[in-house]
Parts: sequence; structure tokens; C-alpha cells
Amino acid sequence: MNRREFLKLTSGTALALAGTAFVAGRISRDAPFTGYKGDERRRAGRLDVSCIGLGCLPMVGYYGGKYDKKEMIALIRRAFDKGVTFFDTAEVYGPYTDEEWVGEAVEPFRERVKLATKFGFGVEEGRPKALNSRPDHIRRAVEGSLKRLRTDHIDLLYQHRVDPAVPIEDVAGTVKELIREGKVLHWGMSEASAASIRRAHAVCPLDAVQSEYSLIWREPETKIFPTLEELGIGFVPYCPLGRALLTGAINANSRFSENDRRATLPMFTPEALPQNMRIVRLTEKWAKRKDVTPAQFALVWLLSQKPWIVPIPGTTNPDHLTDLLGAANVRLSAGELRDFEKDYAGIRLVGHRADPFTESQIDK
Ligand SMILES: NC(=O)c1ccc[n+]([C@@H]2O[C@H](COP(=O)([O-])OP(=O)(O)OC[C@H]3O[C@@H](n4cnc5c(N)ncnc54)[C@H](OP(=O)(O)O)[C@@H]3O)[C@@H](O)[C@H]2O)c1
Repeated sequence: MNRREFLKLTSGTALALAGTAFVAGRISRDAPFTGYKGDERRRAGRLDVSCIGLGCLPMVGYYGGKYDKKEMIALIRRAFDKGVTFFDTAEVYGPYTDEEWVGEAVEPFRERVKLATKFGFGVEEGRPKALNSRPDHIRRAVEGSLKRLRTDHIDLLYQHRVDPAVPIEDVAGTVKELIREGKVLHWGMSEASAASIRRAHAVCPLDAVQSEYSLIWREPETKIFPTLEELGIGFVPYCPLGRALLTGAINANSRFSENDRRATLPMFTPEALPQNMRIVRLTEKWAKRKDVTPAQFALVWLLSQKPWIVPIPGTTNPDHLTDLLGAANVRLSAGELRDFEKDYAGIRLVGHRADPFTESQIDK
């Protein structure tokens, strides 16, 4: 009997019992996964996952291209075979398609992985660019995600962006109810400010915050890390490869098609790119020093910052996946981190990481 059936059966006293069932469920779900082949698991808050997760956004053409569903499902399964137990998607990716593919891919081993998805844009209302975290919308979004992910619980549910029209306490209260009902196990926020994180955490404890963080965007270090450390919340850096810039796949002359997200980002314009090659050169230099590839170094640097950081690089390519997972075994020593900072201090990047509209939806 799954948790949902159990709750239906006991619906008279469901709420009181649900807490017990949930706690018991969580303990068994978070028990060490003995089949893990990587070198390290990490805890994002109370969530036990492989130290590198898989970001599934590029699979629906976020950086241009059209990818075959069968191949992407095979890629997700390959990641699991190699030890990845943490998969990141969102209702708005596609929209819907990404969750559908992830759900189908992990169905055979659902109980052995952690699925993270997100609500927060008005997808159901036909306004996928508008923020919407109203409680009724959150509930609708979660029901849809559960169906598409072919599961009765979401391991980690994020609010995709803070919605200034809805008090964060109302959002946290709604998620708290979903947790009591067993539909959600853990929750998190994306691109939230320290103040919002604190207010939300007071109503319903958060386990993870997901924001952009990499060698091209280090703002979280000063803006939210002290708060996360104090509250015991994990951090999931998105775009850990700087949208491929740090891998060496992009050069000063790279140009992006209209349907490639990077076409709209100031850091990737023809004027900015030549100057931003400095960070590429620095990554390459340090990759050589550590005997890893540049993509691996981008992840090694992140993994070496804090033990509660779990990057979720995105890829559509099986060879790139193998490359990325090679970072799991390598770390920078404290001395190396200090040396790296000295080198990094000379780097000045040009152009903002986000376009003005995206930036306007970031919680400050
Ligand atoms: N919360 C949010 O608002 C938010 C925003 C953006 C992303 N995310 C999440 O974070 C995840 C990661 O971010 P992201 O995928 O946008 O960016 P990313 O991980 O920084 O970079 C992905 C890009 O790097 C390329 N790449 C990966 N491995 C490579 C390798 N070894 N060599 C060369 N190129 C390589 C990929 O191309 P190939 O496909 O060719 O490998 C892809 O174009 C997403 O998938 C998504 O789940 C969340």
C-alpha cells in the first residue's frame, strides 16, 4: 500500500496519522542507499543524495537543439547506473515535457532516487512567465507534477521564484500541509533572499535552496551562505558549468540561436564573450593543475566550497555525463582554494548573468 492509499483508508484520523506515516516513510526513504557507486553522498539539509545530481533542463532544448525522448530517458537511466540519485526538473521545463521524461525514466527505480521539481509560474493558467505561488495554484501544480513524475511523493519541492504577491508564510503553510499529506517530503526555494528564507523556514523548515552559483556568479557566498549555514539548509547550485562557458565548449566567437537561452544573456553577447574568456582560461589552467577536465574543475571547485553543496550540472550528452561524474572523486585542499582565490581576484567578468526580465523576478 502506498502512502496515498494509506491516507485514504484512514481518512477519519488521517491528519494525525499522516505525520507518523510520513516520518516513518522519510526514515526508510533516507536510509543509506547501498547500491551507490560514487565516492560520496551528501546531505542537502536532511536530504541524502549523490554528491552530483543531474539537471534535466537542457533535455527539452533550453540551449537550442531538439532531443529524442528515448535518448534522454536512456541518459537519465545511465546517470542512475553510474550512481546519480538526485534528478532536477520543474513543471515549467517544456512546460511539462521534462517532468514526463524524468518520471518515465526513473519509474523502474523510483524508490532509490530523489526527485526535485518546482512550482511558481502560472503554467496551468497559460501564463508560464508570470509568477504564481497562490495556495490553490501550488496544490494544482503539485497534483500535475505527481502525475507526470509517476509517483505519489515529491522528494524535494521548490518554489521556483518568490512571488511578491503572496506572503511567503502562506506558501510555506501550504507546503507544510502537502508534507502532512505525504505528497511532498522536503521543500526548498530558488533564488530567494536571506530574509525570505528565514521567514519561510520559521513556518516550515527548508532543506535546500537552489540558486545560480558557479565561477561566473558567486553572489550567493555573501548573500545567503551565512543564513544557510546557520539554519542547516543545503545548497543546490544551478548552472554550475556557467551554461557551458566553463567547460571550454564556448569561445569568443560563439553565437547562439534564437531558441538558445544564452542568446538573451548579457554575459554571452558578442561584446562580452571575448572578455569573459578570462574565466575560461583560468578554469583550464586549474583543470590542468588538478589533472581534470575544465567541466570537472568547475564542479570540483563547487564541491570543495562547503560539504552541504550539491551541484546539478545539465547535459544531453552521454560522454559529457561521464566527464561530469569524474569530478566526484576530486577536491581542492584548503591551500589550493587559497591559491585559486589569488588567481581569481584578477578576473573581471563583463555583462550580467541574467536578462532584465529574469532579474526582475529575483528576490532581493
Ligand atoms: N532554479 C532555477 O531557476 C534554474 C535555472 C536554470 C537551471 N536550473 C537547473 O539547474 C540545472 C543545471 O543548469 P543548466 O543545465 O542550465 O546549466 P549548466 O549545468 O551550467 O550547463 C549546461 C550546459 O553545459 C553543457 N555541458 C555539460 N557537460 C559538458 C561537458 N562535459 N563538456 C562540454 N559541455 C558540457 C551542456 O551541453 P550538452 O547538453 O551538450 O552536454 C549544457 O549546454 C538545469 O538542468 C536545471 O535542472 C534551475
